[in-house]
Amino acid sequence: MARTSSKQYDRIIESAKKAARAAYAPYSKIRVGAAVRTRKGKIFTGCNVENASLSLTLCAERNAIGSAIAAGESEFTYLVLSSPDIEYITPCGCCAQFLAEFNPDIIIITTGSKNTYKVYQLKDILAIPFERRE
Ligand code: THU
Repeated sequence: MARTSSKQYDRIIESAKKAARAAYAPYSKIRVGAAVRTRKGKIFTGCNVENASLSLTLCAERNAIGSAIAAGESEFTYLVLSSPDIEYITPCGCCAQFLAEFNPDIIIITTGSKNTYKVYQLKDILAIPFERRE
């Protein structure tokens, strides 16, 4: 169900949209921005970074998480994903697995046009993440 932008998420949605503007996506032309919120309320962003050797491409979500981890933050409550090129873009399977590492219950917010967004749980996207059993 699409909702219209609320005060609760306005700031982080704006951060994800801003990050998408920095995307390096000359090959797919799909610009993606991600903003992840920590339990303490800090926001870290990332964008997709493509490469002529296409499989080297880095997704926006993984860049946002990497930037948070580098700052010593690893407790994430929700992540906003936004693309001016795809409405309601959802994390790819690799990014879903990457996010599950830190919080299998993380909330995923994805933006549409005209200040709309949809809310999912990571579990809606990846029901059974891979887990190591040692
Ligand atoms: N992309 C992301 O940044 N996140 C996703 O979860 C899905 C895909 C990017 C990668 C590539 O640069 C472009 O979108 C098209 O696949």
